[in-house]
Amino acid sequence: MPDVFILGIESSCDETAAAVVRSGEQLISNVVYSQIATHQPFGGVVPELASREHLRAIVPVVRKALEDAGKSYQTIDAVAVTQGPGLAGALLVGLSYAKALAYAVEKPLIAVNHLEGHIHAVLLEERQKDNRELQFPVLALVVSGGHTHLFLVERKQDSWTYHDVGHTRDDAAGEAFDKVAKLLELGYPGGPAVDFLSRHGNPEAVKFPFAQIKHRDRNPQNRHSDDERRVDFSYSGIKTAILRYVETHNMREAIAERRRALTGNATPSREEYLAVSDRQTLDLVASFQRAVVDDLVGKTLLAAREHSVATLLVTGGVAANSELRETFAKRAAEEGLPVYFPSRKLSTDNAAMIAAAAYPRFLADEFAEAELSADAGLRLR
Ligand code: KG4
Ligand code: ZN
Repeated sequence: MPDVFILGIESSCDETAAAVVRSGEQLISNVVYSQIATHQPFGGVVPELASREHLRAIVPVVRKALEDAGKSYQTIDAVAVTQGPGLAGALLVGLSYAKALAYAVEKPLIAVNHLEGHIHAVLLEERQKDNRELQFPVLALVVSGGHTHLFLVERKQDSWTYHDVGHTRDDAAGEAFDKVAKLLELGYPGGPAVDFLSRHGNPEAVKFPFAQIKHRDRNPQNRHSDDERRVDFSYSGIKTAILRYVETHNMREAIAERRRALTGNATPSREEYLAVSDRQTLDLVASFQRAVVDDLVGKTLLAAREHSVATLLVTGGVAANSELRETFAKRAAEEGLPVYFPSRKLSTDNAAMIAAAAYPRFLADEFAEAELSADAGLRLR
């Protein structure tokens, strides 16, 4: 099989990204334009601003990815693009651009599910390390700002299938990190901020219990035939618990103090946040992170046992979290389960994962129709 160079394009949320990947196994170039500075003042992604920023960035980002790869529009073999899930307006920018480009240069277009992309980020890097002996069945935890999902991954030649065996009933885990950081005035995005500050707090200081979710999902669309083996998540409760803790422990003044201390500093560093965080705040974030990590790891291992899997993959923005990585590595090892993560760079949104996920589709001639449209609620199966 000759080398296949796929140009990946990703614009589902707040990163405009393009990358070139060779035959699903080698990262050739990877350009990510992050909109963090645009959304920072709002403490969260503003969809209209995201679309506008994608429009501005898409052409130069793709051009740079091709340039870094020493490729031209004509010398790539296919264009892959995120079809969904994500923000409708944001997805539309990448998708319209990819469609027009593929049409103009007469290359096939491949539609990729963003969550499948996150899973293939791990596979790409493992192949790059020459680890091709992945044992199936595989259980993948995709945990990011928009998703907390457990998929049973199967593969028959070039056809990959994904079976949803658990997901969050409300907020995504990354969303909880972002909202807690926003409430405590610790910066945006919240995940990396909490990750850093937690190292300076006592994770045993506050206990946040999580419920085991065993009842059926009230939404009939979300019901599955093997509901009794499902392991679902819920992260809106802990957010409320933190809010209550802040109120009952009179932390409002300390939060206001922190805001005042950092006024006029557009981009405070992690150390500057640390310098204005009191013990109570540090203990609270460390305890929050410990609770979320224990819940993610515990439930993933429970699902791994329920489905007798041979390998674990952990991916998505929250997979960049140090405590999550350490805890998974330790507890999976105790159960004799190999666990793989993407590098931190490929944990958060990027287009290399989109190009990698497109490769088996390229081999199977699964190309998108000219009518392809973005699907904000696209499911992975
Ligand atoms: O995968 P991603 O870039 O975008 C989505 O598909 O949502 O994930 C972004 C999310 C944000 O919620 C961010 O706070 C979280 O990942 N995140 C982290 C860390 N780095 C990013 N959460 C915890 N610890 C981190 N180190
Ligand atoms: Zn993502």
